[in-house]
Amino acid sequence: MTHKIAVTSAFGVESVTKKELKNLGVRDPKAIDGSFVFDGTMRDVSRLNVFLRTGDRVHLVLKEFPARSFDELFDGVKSVPFSDYLPTDARIIVNGKSVKSTLYSLSDCQKIIKKAILSRLSEDKRTTYFPESGPTYEVLFSIRNDLVTLSLNTSGKGLHKRGYRDLVGDAPIKETLAAALVALSPIDAERPFVDPFCGSGTLLIEAATAAMHIAPGISRDFDFLHWNFFDKKLYEETIEEAKSGEKKQKLPFAGYDVDPSAIKLALRHAERAGIREYVHLQARDVKDLSHAKSHGCIVTNPPYGERLLTEREALELYKTFGDVCKRLDQWSINVITSAKGFERAFGKKADRNRKLFNANKECRFYQYDRL
Ligand SMILES: C[S@@+](CC[C@H](N)C(=O)[O-])C[C@H]1O[C@@H](n2cnc3c(N)ncnc32)[C@H](O)[C@@H]1O
Repeated sequence: MTHKIAVTSAFGVESVTKKELKNLGVRDPKAIDGSFVFDGTMRDVSRLNVFLRTGDRVHLVLKEFPARSFDELFDGVKSVPFSDYLPTDARIIVNGKSVKSTLYSLSDCQKIIKKAILSRLSEDKRTTYFPESGPTYEVLFSIRNDLVTLSLNTSGKGLHKRGYRDLVGDAPIKETLAAALVALSPIDAERPFVDPFCGSGTLLIEAATAAMHIAPGISRDFDFLHWNFFDKKLYEETIEEAKSGEKKQKLPFAGYDVDPSAIKLALRHAERAGIREYVHLQARDVKDLSHAKSHGCIVTNPPYGERLLTEREALELYKTFGDVCKRLDQWSINVITSAKGFERAFGKKADRNRKLFNANKECRFYQYDRL
């Protein structure tokens, strides 16, 4: 059976998500309001949740309909055969947004939608007892120009929650954004990769797991796994596919940070991600950065001079970083920062840059093919 599927993606990395979707067999993903929408099966839902590195969540689109009044909203929701999806003990969570629409009170929309779902379930299942003690079903509504889109969130927690990062370091980068930066950089398993400001290790782990084809969602839970209408065999097949595709090997990949407690955290996360024995992590100041190999790739997220360091300190650090990079003149250097003076402090204009958001902060991803 074919469903309409929507995958949400972060601003600035849409092209990476689109490429990933195509590589995963999605045909003709259409960009609509921050999501990619396409036709697919529950097998696709399973595979996308497990394999997507940069997407945020995978939604099953249930229905689209116009609504300018609460009555129209109620009727539209009630026309969805919710009893095909939800058991009577479903824990139903309704969340959503409204843009440029007559119905703008989110809390009222939430109440009406939940009432309509229960009304439909009540008629179909002939009960008024809904203990909400069972699996979670997050029903999402998006109202835009009076058009309602109703979906089920199949992922549950966002796909950035891989499961390896259990403790929080200083200003960590989101795993999905880190994966996108890695995908935009010339990394491969044979060439050295270095993150000289690795913090809790996110970029190194995302680079290493991508290079070893370790599926990002291989060891986490998803809401769809608890749903009766989902055939568990599809998930077992997905996991089998993921395991058989892994190419675990020692990599010339390293992460450094001046702070030994950050390295301790990075080691912990690398262990939890199953890659600790394949990469190198060590406390080291960026001023001591050097490498025996003439070619390689740096992808890094240094302090921005906001939460960590003052602006002046950050710019001084970028100057030091720029100076040591001169020793790595055949390396590709890729840096995300919100600091406007980065290129000047680093000492060179980037070959290109891309606007991105890291924790809602506008940043640029500066890319030097080689210095
Ligand atoms: C924005 S954080 C990196 C966060 C990392 N991407 C993560 O996901 O956890 C910047 C890191 O730069 C480190 N740092 C600051 N000054 C440094 C220096 N001189 N040499 C190396 N690392 C430094 C800080 O200790 C901090 O962990």
